[in-house]
Amino acid sequence: MKALDYARAHGDRFLSELNEFLSIPSISTHERHRPAVLEAAEWLRDRLLAAGFPRAEVMPTPGHPIVYAEWLPAGPVSPTVLVYGHYDVQPPDPLDLWRTPPFEPTRVGDDLFCRGASDDKGQLYVHLKAVEAFRETAGAPPVNVKCIFEGEEESGSPNLDPFIQQHRELLAADVGLISDTDILDRDTPAIVYGLRGIAYLEVEVTGPAGDLHSGSYGGAVHNPINALCAMIASLQDADGRITIPGFYDSVRQLEDEERAELAKVPFDRQDWLQEAGVKTDWGEPEYTITERTTARPTLDVNGIWGGYMEPGTKTVLPSNAYAKISTRLVPDQDPAEISRLIQRHMKAIAPPTVSVEVRELHLGDGAIVRRDSPAMQAACRAYAAGFGAEPVFKRTGGSIPVVATLQKELGIEAILMGFGLPDDNLHAPNEKLHLPNFHRGIETAIHFFQFLAG
Ligand code: BES
Ligand code: ZN
Repeated sequence: MKALDYARAHGDRFLSELNEFLSIPSISTHERHRPAVLEAAEWLRDRLLAAGFPRAEVMPTPGHPIVYAEWLPAGPVSPTVLVYGHYDVQPPDPLDLWRTPPFEPTRVGDDLFCRGASDDKGQLYVHLKAVEAFRETAGAPPVNVKCIFEGEEESGSPNLDPFIQQHRELLAADVGLISDTDILDRDTPAIVYGLRGIAYLEVEVTGPAGDLHSGSYGGAVHNPINALCAMIASLQDADGRITIPGFYDSVRQLEDEERAELAKVPFDRQDWLQEAGVKTDWGEPEYTITERTTARPTLDVNGIWGGYMEPGTKTVLPSNAYAKISTRLVPDQDPAEISRLIQRHMKAIAPPTVSVEVRELHLGDGAIVRRDSPAMQAACRAYAAGFGAEPVFKRTGGSIPVVATLQKELGIEAILMGFGLPDDNLHAPNEKLHLPNFHRGIETAIHFFQFLAG
């Protein structure tokens, strides 16, 4: 196919464009990066126009903008694909653990190191280049393509659902296409069919009205950090079961059939231990590691602070203590309901010596997508052609809340056609993209559009 030849011939240029995109520090979670987030959105719009999309615009939201593009050359009887991706990235901290500067894309062998290389700039860019390859060799892609690229995914997508609700007609499509997940290994592609939901909260515990001398008051004033630690420690038992009343009430139990299915996904415990950098695993003993990390709910403290945190010592009995706590949720658990349960429980277990405030930071639904659609078959054939191997179906423990929104608001299923690798260091120092996956990804996307067109 000519589009494939074109992609192969222009791979180096595609990569230098990706380097430009990666150099923009579009960190969505912090106000001070707002200009960079906008710069990334505008850069993406310009590249969409250059790839042939006749319409591409930066559309405002109350937060970071959404980049929308469409090219509908195939007519109303042909399928329309809605490509979703996110151009924002996680903060690069801790900076001193990066071997190369986080926003200077650096190639080492077959890997490209940079924040956002895999999550998600490198993966979303694949689709622009697939469309460009069709434009240059066939005049247009064989299906209709719409793109929605958001700039707030890494901070909980606060404005995405309202945007989708307000633009149902504009976004109408037959299938969603998302490349924001990982495959099993270099040569074993995977399609994710299950994602976990999330409820993210912040807890503030207040003890004395102001900081106190720990010599003068220690022993008779309850330290809010100690109190918070005790509260957090009680949220799980020794086996990792969450003790919040009602937490498991709506958890959909894993059927034997699905457990058998999950057990088929190749898994090597030693490799996994090494990848995670841990001595041994932890958690609910009656579930496998794969089940625990993809199909069971979790509770994790993502940060905890208060008191004196600078070098040296300070004998203080602090006034406040804080923690960020998130739970990963599985099908049938409602994030809003779980958030209420956590808020109620934290107040209930607070000792009378302190006061507690819990703030909800963000919620996101999990999802299970259909695996029997013609588009899913096209995706399987596309991977087989692009990677030379049939994809494995798997669930992932991460969250991409838009998948549920596409089901609810647009009535469409998404194909999670990922090109990342499990050791890409997402959200961690030294994030990387395995470059052969970038190029194979473009070829896989080209095949997908072609197979979908029939
Ligand atoms: N690309 C990830 C989702 C993901 C993580 C897929 C791990 C496969 C494996 C996505 O960008 C992400 O990190 N999402 C956040 C969503 C949250 C902020 C609502 C997540 O899962 O933490
Ligand atoms: Zn992502």
